[in-house]
Amino acid sequence: MNPFSYGTIVRGHHFYDRKEECAHLVKTLSGGNNVVFYAPRRFGKTSLVFRVIEHLEKQGFLCIYFDFMTAFSPESFVRLYTKALSAKQTNLKKFAQTFAAAIKAIRPVLGFGTDGAPEFSIDFAHATINETVISQLLDMPETLANAGKQRVIVFFDEFQEVEKLNSIHFEGLLRSKIQQQRNTNYLFFGSKTHLLKELFNNKKRAFYNAASQMTIGPLPQQDTIKYLRKRFAESGIVLNAAMAKYMISATSDIPHYIQLLAAETWQYMVNSRKLVTKKIIDNCIARMIAFKSDYYMELFDRQSQSQKQLLQALTVEGKNIFSTAYIHAHRLPSASTLQRAINKLINEGVIEKVNDEYFIADPFFKRFIVSIS
Ligand SMILES: Nc1ncnc2c1ncn2[C@@H]1O[C@H](COP(=O)(O)OP(=O)(O)OP(=O)(O)O)[C@@H](O)[C@H]1O
Ligand SMILES: [Mg+2]
Repeated sequence: MNPFSYGTIVRGHHFYDRKEECAHLVKTLSGGNNVVFYAPRRFGKTSLVFRVIEHLEKQGFLCIYFDFMTAFSPESFVRLYTKALSAKQTNLKKFAQTFAAAIKAIRPVLGFGTDGAPEFSIDFAHATINETVISQLLDMPETLANAGKQRVIVFFDEFQEVEKLNSIHFEGLLRSKIQQQRNTNYLFFGSKTHLLKELFNNKKRAFYNAASQMTIGPLPQQDTIKYLRKRFAESGIVLNAAMAKYMISATSDIPHYIQLLAAETWQYMVNSRKLVTKKIIDNCIARMIAFKSDYYMELFDRQSQSQKQLLQALTVEGKNIFSTAYIHAHRLPSASTLQRAINKLINEGVIEKVNDEYFIADPFFKRFIVSIS
């Protein structure tokens, strides 16, 4: 079994570090505060939150996790949020009764899954999903808290996607619930930093000042080096500290890509070689880029001229990009055209901004751009 894991939430021994961030979140949420937490894509937000949930559940909290990415309409929100609300319930009959009493327009259905385990679902084929239904559904965490005499914490992943539901004044409704609910707290998090900041920092928006803010950076390099070396050593493969560092820099220090490169390298070496060299790592990177080259070519091709120029510039450096020196050095367009190019690339998730530095989100795409420039 490959000891490295990527592309999914990591748990157990696949998850390392983040102790302080985890403790901070547990303390703040259990202390009765709401938090908004953002970090670029693939930094490990969801995995950290699942660790936080484990801790809070041990302390007796009922934790509800919901990913807004999946909710594309009020109807899908109703179906999926109901599923999330019922997911941790041990007494589904009691839950169905509470649900039926709280939301008159929707019929709860108790049944059995293919594995024979009891299952809860809803039938709302004939119901109109309006603000009243959404309002009652948003009351459910507090209803459950009161019914079970248990504090509740709701985790809203990719929360910036809430905008898709604004046809039913979702934002305003949720904000008013949060203010009223005494036994429920919320963690809002996601990767589109600029959208989340706009939601929580703009005085005109419903969530202005609704939560304390935090962010996470990359994993500390020393911990990553230790982790990688230990995992390779367990398979009898030697990864020296310099090569571990090289892996980190080749993946721009982004947790997901570090694990991806480590997994590829491990796979390449496991049966034949004993010492990880720079040549082997470079080979693995080249193989991964070759595998995705059609996609990368298409992605690059469909960018406008200014976006392409900016991407090329970002393979070199990402600070002070509005300075005359930077614009000149990289033959970039005027500041206003540049700003438009940045906005488009950020919205598409192709580039990210942390503090005042811009970078290409996928380090292998970055290498691909270098290779064709
Ligand atoms: N603490 C960690 N220990 C080990 N690997 C980690 C850790 N955090 C993240 N990773 C790596 O990064 C990958 C992405 O993690 P996760 O899905 O939690 O990130 P995310 O920030 O929620 O990503 P997305 O922006 O795609 O939602 C994991 O599959 C794993 O390979
Ligand atoms: Mg995530």
